[in-house]
Amino acid sequence: MEIEHVRSRFIKHFDGKTGNIYASPGRINIIGEHTDYNGGFVFPGAIDKGIMCEIRPNGTNKVMAYSIDLKDRVEFDINDEKGPKASWARYIYGIIQEMKKLGVDVKGFNTAFAGDVPLGAGLSSSAALESCFAFALNDLFGDNKVSKWDMVLAGQATEHNYCGVNCGIMDQFASVFGQEGKLMRLDCRSHEFEYFPFDPKGYKLVLVDSVVKHELASSAYNDRRKSCENVVAALKNKYPDKTIETLRDADWDMLESVKADVSEEDMKRAVYVLGEKDRVLAVCEALNAGDYETVGQKMYETHKGLSKDYEVSCEELDYLNDIAKENGVTGSRIMGGGFGGCTINLVKDELHDKFIEDVKAKYEAKYGKTPKIYDVVISEGSRKIC
Ligand code: GLA
Repeated sequence: MEIEHVRSRFIKHFDGKTGNIYASPGRINIIGEHTDYNGGFVFPGAIDKGIMCEIRPNGTNKVMAYSIDLKDRVEFDINDEKGPKASWARYIYGIIQEMKKLGVDVKGFNTAFAGDVPLGAGLSSSAALESCFAFALNDLFGDNKVSKWDMVLAGQATEHNYCGVNCGIMDQFASVFGQEGKLMRLDCRSHEFEYFPFDPKGYKLVLVDSVVKHELASSAYNDRRKSCENVVAALKNKYPDKTIETLRDADWDMLESVKADVSEEDMKRAVYVLGEKDRVLAVCEALNAGDYETVGQKMYETHKGLSKDYEVSCEELDYLNDIAKENGVTGSRIMGGGFGGCTINLVKDELHDKFIEDVKAKYEAKYGKTPKIYDVVISEGSRKIC
């Protein structure tokens, strides 16, 4: 995104002065979906699309924020107990509160921000927004004393405490820690992670956006998490001597043994999670061996699990997955929370153009809307631009 785009609006909508500019990216995830809050592994990377903000302290306790994309302006007092109503402004309000809890002496500021990470497309526009402001507030008011991990957790707490989404840590982690050309394998239980060079020669990663917005899916997301917790509660009951914190601690036999104690629906959710745990490990091995056929096959299996057992797909996403299969695409699946948004596709170079042409034509013919296609580049995490 162009700095000028943000700067010109910042100057126009405030007092003509300039401030500091920060940027944070959205993310992709190769495999490990809905595993983060189950203590499992994820495999994300930051992308070359994100949020950019310009910000300047204004010497008051008021935040004056302008969303360039929505052409909406909101003002609130940083000490106000309730905070603003506009959903985009709640992310800023929330991260202020969470950074204050970490000892950052946040004062009022003017800010304008814009994004080129599409909203509600499963690319973590909200985590990009939280991370961007966490980074900015840490720099402007906190002498950069807050660690990257604390900023990740502050972003997650913003979702939990101010935005009603009980998300895991994958998105904020990827946005803060991303590195150019590298995916990251994160153990969401221990927080240990490893950078993983990702340059699949002969393949492209293509995101196909169903343009079905998933913005209203937060209660369904929270329900999935609750189902997993219900199964954990049943397991704890059955195995009082074992330490069971999340579904990460369960194996297939243990799961089978609580079948009668949990609802059929909760069981299906847990079956998906345990399957995904196995798939992430298989994909790690395959990536190490440069075996992209196996990576792709696991991606299709994940899609099936997300669609049939976890039930976070929708007709449009399933259709996109079918078209990928018909085109001989190596791997394809829903990416992110689901209920709309994108599929991620691992496509051989020579099939790329034909696949895109075909997916556009078929999707348009069936749904009367054009899917958006994004070629993504694995890029750097949160940073100060100037
Ligand atoms: C959303 C959440 C993440 C993660 C994914 C699913 O993006 O914010 O924490 O749970 O869904 O993998």
